[in-house]
Amino acid sequence: MAEDLQIARGTKEEMYEILIPQIKALIYGEPDLVANLANIAAALKEQFGWLWVGFYLIKNEELVLGPFQGPVACTRIKKGRGVCGSSWQQAQSLIVPDVAKFPGHIACSSLSVSEIVVPIIRNNEVLGVLDVDSEKENLFDKTDQKYLEAIVQEIVF
Ligand code: SME
Repeated sequence: MAEDLQIARGTKEEMYEILIPQIKALIYGEPDLVANLANIAAALKEQFGWLWVGFYLIKNEELVLGPFQGPVACTRIKKGRGVCGSSWQQAQSLIVPDVAKFPGHIACSSLSVSEIVVPIIRNNEVLGVLDVDSEKENLFDKTDQKYLEAIVQEIVF
């Protein structure tokens, strides 16, 4: 496909519905994981304008920073630490309306207020997480969870 993104306006659902086929087309037939994660992060950032969106991948029992869009971030996160490490440990998506109230939250950016983290699971094993941060309180909901979980399903390892 042409490497430009059609940006949707409308409801959150409409935005994801327009974006997901484009993400599928961007990564279709491309076996390189880093290239695909980079394009997914860029597409999400371009559509939604979130503060930070990117991936952490598990390497030697730690989450290690992968492709992302946004301000510089912490490089390594241990299992159970912060929202990302908790999502890994619990093997489930976590929606945090106000990170100040999340015990052990890792503040990579003081601007970050709400967050959603979606684990990438294959054969019952967590391989990494998709992390999204916003400057706005309570930005993420079950709709984001549903679509972001669908997006991480598309990633081929
Ligand atoms: N806030 C996250 C750390 C990662 S960054 O925000 C990019 C956490 O508590 O897991």
